Amino acid sequence: MSTREKVLSKISAFPTLPVMASRLLNLLDDQDSGISQIAEVIKYDPALTVNVLKAANSSYLGFSREVSSMTEAAVRLGTNWIFKIAISSLINSSVKKPAEGYDLSAEDLWKHSMVTALTAENLCKMLKIKDKGQIFTAAILHDMGKIVLGEFIADSFISILRISEDDQIPFEEAEKKFIEIDHAEIGGLIAQRWNFPPQIVECIRFHHNPDAAADVTPAIDIVHIADALCLMADIGAGRAGLRHHPSENSIKRLQITSSILELAVSQIPAALESIDDIFKEMPVEQLAGRW
Ligand SMILES: [Fe+2]
Ligand SMILES: [Fe+2]
Repeated sequence: MSTREKVLSKISAFPTLPVMASRLLNLLDDQDSGISQIAEVIKYDPALTVNVLKAANSSYLGFSREVSSMTEAAVRLGTNWIFKIAISSLINSSVKKPAEGYDLSAEDLWKHSMVTALTAENLCKMLKIKDKGQIFTAAILHDMGKIVLGEFIADSFISILRISEDDQIPFEEAEKKFIEIDHAEIGGLIAQRWNFPPQIVECIRFHHNPDAAADVTPAIDIVHIADALCLMADIGAGRAGLRHHPSENSIKRLQITSSILELAVSQIPAALESIDDIFKEMPVEQLAGRW
């Protein structure tokens, strides 16, 4: 069995996606569904309700009065925050895991994924790009292939690093050369197994190499740039975080000016802060076992 085949055989052991996550994504795709419909779906899930209420009362948002019902929380947070909290809380149990060989703890990987998602969202706002929900979801999941590939990397890390240094290429390219598959392709395959829309699958699959996509969408470029900015800011770069920069082609395609890029970078610390506050302590144990 080749290493590629061995890696592929591990994908089937990856947790399945919670049904609620796909339901939420569908709701978000539907232009007509409003905050009340989203709140309606969430309120039947006790763990999710707890997380949304906690977030609505977090000090980050700065409200003094406590809310105790889903309806109040929905009004206070609005569709966008409710979605972000719900989707990250749902996905959390599947992807909050360490990526061994990359030297990334579960916390590091989670933070990197969340900051990438929030940075992607900020870019969407500045560039007035739609599909924010899908882009946010793809960005949270973009590195989940590292969880699968981590154990293979652990044994070969030095060899991969040597290729990366000798050939002056990013770690991901060296990873592909050595193991015949990279974490981006694996992540795309997992997303496919989860029956995610092709747009999300492609964002994950091409997050390190947007030009390789047959049909390069703004979503693919956004996730790629957001990831590169976070790696450059040393958020979740782990041992492999060398030689990262956003693709010139992506920047051109999206017509991103240097001031937009600078603004996106300057918003990264606030994104980190919101993760420590709003998204912290999402109770994994409480959610585990529900799928
Ligand atoms: Fe990656
Ligand atoms: Fe990443």
